[in-house]
Amino acid sequence: MTEAERRATLEAIAQEVAVCTRCRLHQTRTRAVPGEGHPETEVVLVGEGPGFNEDRQGRPFVGQAGAKLEALLTSIGWRRQEVFITNVVKCRPPENRDPEPDEIAACAPFLTRQLEALDPALVVTLGRFSMARFSPGARIGQVHGTYRPADAASGAPEALAYAMYHPAAALHQGSLNEALFRDMQGVPEALVAARARRRSAATPTDSAATEAEAPAVAEVSAAVEPPAIAAIAAIDPPPSIVPSPEEAPPAEHASPPAPEAETRPAAQLPLF
Ligand code: URA
Repeated sequence: MTEAERRATLEAIAQEVAVCTRCRLHQTRTRAVPGEGHPETEVVLVGEGPGFNEDRQGRPFVGQAGAKLEALLTSIGWRRQEVFITNVVKCRPPENRDPEPDEIAACAPFLTRQLEALDPALVVTLGRFSMARFSPGARIGQVHGTYRPADAASGAPEALAYAMYHPAAALHQGSLNEALFRDMQGVPEALVAARARRRSAATPTDSAATEAEAPAVAEVSAAVEPPAIAAIAAIDPPPSIVPSPEEAPPAEHASPPAPEAETRPAAQLPLF
């Protein structure tokens, strides 16, 4: 799919979402929230559903949870314009209640089509409703800060899914703030792994030979060409430093972030 086709597809989905009446949530919404971001990104973040501010503005993660999400992205040197941000349900559940299974099911084709258009390498799930979509049966307390192949039915069959707590959880439960920032430090490494996985899937070779010759993750990442989109991105890339294993340890081995971690970019893996 060309970049223009991808933009057009995402815009067509957004227009359908804006007038959708597939479930009861349309009766109480102010505006539907299709999602937004860079159409050529490798990373899609999926939340639960719009809250009060998102419902008013028609944009995802613009309230307090959005400020937390932006701080999390800043901590790894990324910006929200460089990723795509969307939700499992596109209309606000009244009083911010959990989305019902039939509401999630009614909205699911929109997310599937967005993912098919974006074809991300990495999906970062924010909270348990999003995680359930990409890693059915997983428990967030056990899998947060880790990645696994995304469920094939999700619309992103070639992506890795990286599980995180929902940013709003940190607003209600301070102890989760540390876990969120620690888990975020594992996202660049998950992207490196996702890129390597896609490269090996795209190179049909004898599997034994592939395994024997597989370069280390950091080597693979260094060899990966940046996507050829600089001309359309209008985004200043952050410094190009591929994290070494020491700089970006696996989440389960990562130490808690220093107090200033929210404002100090960690080892950086540029998206563009
Ligand atoms: N919480 C979500 O899950 N999504 C939003 O867009 C905002 C808050």
